[in-house]
Amino acid sequence: PEAITVGELANRMAERGADLVKALFKMGMPVTLTQTIDQDTAELLVTEFGHRIKRVSESDIDIQSTEDVDAAESLQSRAPVVTIMGHVDHGKTSLLDALRGTEVVAGEAGGITQHIGAYQVTVKSGDKITFLDTPGHEAFSEMRARGANVTDIVVLVVAADDGLRPQTVEAINHTKAAGVPMIVAINKIDKPEAKPQKVREELLQHEVIVEDMGGDVQDVEVSALKKTNLDDLIEKIQLQAELLELKANPDRPAEGTVVEAKLDKGRGPVATILVGRGTLRVGDVFVVGAESGKVRALVDDKGRNIKEAGPSVPVEVLGLSGVPGAGDQLTVVENEARAREVAAYRAGVIQQKRTTSAPASLESMFSALR
Ligand code: GTP
Ligand code: MG
Repeated sequence: PEAITVGELANRMAERGADLVKALFKMGMPVTLTQTIDQDTAELLVTEFGHRIKRVSESDIDIQSTEDVDAAESLQSRAPVVTIMGHVDHGKTSLLDALRGTEVVAGEAGGITQHIGAYQVTVKSGDKITFLDTPGHEAFSEMRARGANVTDIVVLVVAADDGLRPQTVEAINHTKAAGVPMIVAINKIDKPEAKPQKVREELLQHEVIVEDMGGDVQDVEVSALKKTNLDDLIEKIQLQAELLELKANPDRPAEGTVVEAKLDKGRGPVATILVGRGTLRVGDVFVVGAESGKVRALVDDKGRNIKEAGPSVPVEVLGLSGVPGAGDQLTVVENEARAREVAAYRAGVIQQKRTTSAPASLESMFSALR
């Protein structure tokens, strides 16, 4: 059984520490903020305060307010969030470009994706699909693992002239671990040396069985370069999305995830946030990781200033106190004092984790995020 300090529990519950101490005193337990209480007492307290416990793992409990669970009637359909994964140079960015009808690759240093881009594409039917482009570099595995966390569907890009490579297998494993459905895009079929059937056979060895081979994983042969079969890929994504019945409540304070963040020379700290639920608006006060802020401006994926962003919308947020980390959660709170309080607390926890624990393995980080 895990122990937790009263202070930490208060923060996870977003309640005042003093109120918890008072409640514990009434329960016959005179303790201070820095003292630890056992799991059972913590659970009792949590229930007492009207919260719901979500046990993430043995050592980590995550607490959500009961009022935080959105009522079924408040839910509305949202766009699927699709993460493009695959080995370096297999054509992830090119495919995304082709889908967007724009040219990101040309502007990238050395043609290697340095960040996770987030874009929303409106398809012929008028439906929207949100795409996340993940970097192909081994060093960015962590971000990629986090990418799968906000992801509804993974599009695994495999170059037909190269077949399965280490990062393809890594992506398959992450996708499976996250329980996210996968669609395989067999890319570069315009190349004379392309061997799409060989790709399907290699996939089989990793228990990814495409429909043609009697499995239930959709696959499609594409060429990002020649823009071949892109409609087919879109159709398969939409089919998969329909099965998932993706919904979120847009009418509540926003919550989102940091997809990328940087310090911009002219604009200060900027974070690309993928809104999970609620609607993020200019003027909203928020906490994001160990930072806080007030939304000064929202910029969409086309560089336009917008007033608000709802579920599944990727948006650049300006007005942060500092640069948060990829995968950090953004939560809109009631006022600036509360935002600073939570951020300061989180900063302490993050600092503590950095100094006391060894770097987490990719797998453990991945499971902690789920
Ligand atoms: P990283 O971000 O570095 O992991 O690479 P990536 O997977 O995003 O690949 P990228 O889109 O940068 O493409 C890598 C190379 O493959 C580029 O030179 C592209 O022009 C080329 N390429 C991508 N798609 C196709 C395709 O369908 N056919 C052919 N012939 N070349 C392609
Ligand atoms: Mg790329």
